[in-house]
Amino acid sequence: MEGFDREALVAQAKAAREQAYAPYSGYRVGAALLTRSGLVFTGCNVENAVYPLTTCAERTAVVKAVSEGEREFVALAVVTENGGSPCGSCRQTLREFGDDLLILIVDTQGNIRETTLAALLPDSFSATDLVI
Ligand code: THU
Repeated sequence: MEGFDREALVAQAKAAREQAYAPYSGYRVGAALLTRSGLVFTGCNVENAVYPLTTCAERTAVVKAVSEGEREFVALAVVTENGGSPCGSCRQTLREFGDDLLILIVDTQGNIRETTLAALLPDSFSATDLVI
């Protein structure tokens, strides 16, 4: 899965954003996670009246993918109105499955910022640190 269709992945994240359940913040987020096998798992943020129970779009996508047997990821597209960056919790959740993930941070105007998980979460803690 070297080359992939960036525009298609962004389009899927944009479509996922339409499903966002964000009655409290009004901040709608969509994500699309591409697996090494070529599948795409999408996610949106799902808020709750008990605010801390909110699930971010990126973690929705990861949980969907892993629960379907996928653990190798190539790229993640995240769409918000203003091109917001994935939060720390989502970065660490994604880190569990590698740090060479390509991340496309996109706004609703279509501006794309390309980065990697390693750049967003340097010197990270992972399973290799759990030497007991
Ligand atoms: N949110 C995400 O879905 N992903 C992030 O990485 C940052 C924040 C959501 C959570 C909440 O529903 C809303 O954005 C405002 O924090």
